[in-house]
Amino acid sequence: MTKRYLFTTALLLAFAVRSIAGEGMWIPLLLEKYNEEDMQAMGMKITAEDIYSVNNSSLKDAVFRFGGGCTAGMISAQGLIITNHHCGYGNIQALSSLDRDLLTDGFWADDLETELPCEGLQVTRLVYMEDVSSRVLGGVEDNWTRQQRQDTIELRIQKITGEATEGTHYSAAIEPFYYGNQYFMFVTESFKDVRLVGAPPSAIGKFGGDTDNWMWPRHTGDFALFRVYAGEHNDPVEYSEDNSPYTPLMHMPISLNGAEEEDFTFVFGFPGRTQQYLTSHAVDMIINTENPERIALREMRLDIMDGYMQQSDEVRIQYAAKHARVANFYKKFQGENRGIHRLKAVEVKEEQQRQFQQWADSSPNNRRRYGDLFPAFGQAYEALTPYNMAFNYVIEAGIAVELVPFVRNFGQLFQAVPDSNLAQIKEDLQKRAESFFNDYHKPLDQDILAAVFEKYAQDIHDAFQPVVFQLVENEFDGDFSQYASYVFKESSFTSLEDVEAFLADFNATEQDREALRKDPAYQMSASVFSSYFQHVRPVRDSLNNHLDSLYRVYLEGLMKKREGDYFYPDANSTLRITYGKVEGYKPQNAVTYRHYTTLQGVFEKEALGEPDYTVPDKLRQLYKAKDFGPYAAGDGTMRPCFIASNHTSGGNSGSPVLNANGHLIGVNFDRNWEGTMSDLMYDPNQCRNISVDIRYCLFIIDKFANAGHLLEEMTIIMPR
Ligand code: ARG
Ligand code: ASP
Repeated sequence: MTKRYLFTTALLLAFAVRSIAGEGMWIPLLLEKYNEEDMQAMGMKITAEDIYSVNNSSLKDAVFRFGGGCTAGMISAQGLIITNHHCGYGNIQALSSLDRDLLTDGFWADDLETELPCEGLQVTRLVYMEDVSSRVLGGVEDNWTRQQRQDTIELRIQKITGEATEGTHYSAAIEPFYYGNQYFMFVTESFKDVRLVGAPPSAIGKFGGDTDNWMWPRHTGDFALFRVYAGEHNDPVEYSEDNSPYTPLMHMPISLNGAEEEDFTFVFGFPGRTQQYLTSHAVDMIINTENPERIALREMRLDIMDGYMQQSDEVRIQYAAKHARVANFYKKFQGENRGIHRLKAVEVKEEQQRQFQQWADSSPNNRRRYGDLFPAFGQAYEALTPYNMAFNYVIEAGIAVELVPFVRNFGQLFQAVPDSNLAQIKEDLQKRAESFFNDYHKPLDQDILAAVFEKYAQDIHDAFQPVVFQLVENEFDGDFSQYASYVFKESSFTSLEDVEAFLADFNATEQDREALRKDPAYQMSASVFSSYFQHVRPVRDSLNNHLDSLYRVYLEGLMKKREGDYFYPDANSTLRITYGKVEGYKPQNAVTYRHYTTLQGVFEKEALGEPDYTVPDKLRQLYKAKDFGPYAAGDGTMRPCFIASNHTSGGNSGSPVLNANGHLIGVNFDRNWEGTMSDLMYDPNQCRNISVDIRYCLFIIDKFANAGHLLEEMTIIMPR
């Protein structure tokens, strides 16, 4: 049975793609088979082989995963990469202080010596990918238990990845596609010495801030430059002063020809997670129960952060990256809800499900395998909803109090044995504490604790509440502000000095352990985590596993039903290609958005007088003098950003945006407000990706920052 299904699946996937304009995140390895024709019909002048080649260097060798969740493109033969300012934001912040505020002032290295090492930052290149479906799934039978299936697959994955990396410096991972109907292996190499080369001031790199985030029209110069360094043999090694710039296999030529309406364009990068195949039940749960709670909890935190950040420059710097992170999804969840409602996505999915059901019911075999899926989905989501809510509260309230995850680390001390590991554990905790308190403002966290825990206690079923809430009820009359001030007054973990004193006194005696156990912050932290581990995670995990199995069968059925259509797998942080056209859109009746902005818009926004719209004087001077060098468009305008119909997601930030010749024309950094639901459902009429025009980046580097020396190492194609 299984074998036949597998076989059928493989066969079905062998049909060519007929893509809906712009939709889809395609697998580089399969581009030639499924997409090349379509891409060339849309105007692409290069071949799939130029983009991803098994045997030769290709464009994919110039695309790197940047840090935890972004992409970067290689733009010189000396390891220079370009990504978004917001992707490097945490690193730029970490290099900043009150007297050297790189966030506000920007930074431009004069030469290699002055480039700034970024601790903890790494970039990763895909060496090759491989379809390992038959090796992973061969002989796996449908009647196996979930455990049996999982164990077998796990073992095989270990074996295959082990073989692939033996004797190399590579890493390998095997990822499920289509909910485990297929598996691909990704062999990668990671570079650990990455240095900051250039970043515009936030007034350019983050122009528009959270006001403009997720919005078009946009005027943000959201880019930054880093350099990858390698060891003596051009190999990825840890940071060392002796390292030299990495010589890449490929770097992207930069085109000054710009992005004109209807131009073919593609984006090459690492989209994180999409969920296109969710059932109506899931979409309903996300937009009607999950997103509203997340939005409300984030709003509370943001209000408190805003208050403290406005009062002090020190706090503003300390919390810049944290605030941006919280604000980003706060806004996205709202756009997503709006887009889903507007698309009537739940109804659309219900209709698709009716059709699937009809198809399933039309043959006894199909009915047996696919006929009961939707009732099963319905039940599973009904059961899952309260657990997901509880989970969201752990994430958006429980560990939103910074002290909660921080203090959890001190649990290690229960394993400490004097004269053995105690000193090591203390040293580790000391280091963590130093970095934690560097960016920590006690009164802010205390206020957040009081606010979000109160809501936590109100909204979440008793069974999921941290036990410490009982204490608040009994000893503080349910008053969370009083509880918060008690925690912050009595705990030994709310300042670096207190932590150091605690560690100095801690000798792992029973008394010491008792003191730790009784510490109010430790108790609070332990109770948040234990409510999660005991009462939320086990059931939630098992329901999600069950759902995964249902989706695996559902997707298998969809492939069978939509015979002839090759459809794209959800994003899973692996390298993908998405392609479309440079084009504007109509966000609502009577309104049309053009595909590009001009520098004039920066000054129109500035005139509104809002803090997110301040403009450096130098930029004003260049604008007035029209001193745009060769970077102006044909009509003499300077164009900061453009939009196109490429299907992107979180993780695509920093992705190179290329033209029909495979030349770099922009750096992707966002999506538009009307299109933020695209992780759940894509709408070709409304979904656009937003990129900073590469000409604007070069203009800023050359004219604004006087860092023209950096252009010398780039391959620049002058305008026609
Ligand atoms: N929305 C974009 C993305 O998801 C940009 C976020 C950074 N900007 C900000 N204002 N927080 O990453
Ligand atoms: N801004 C996102 C990122 O950081 C991109 C997106 O969600 O469109 O990856």
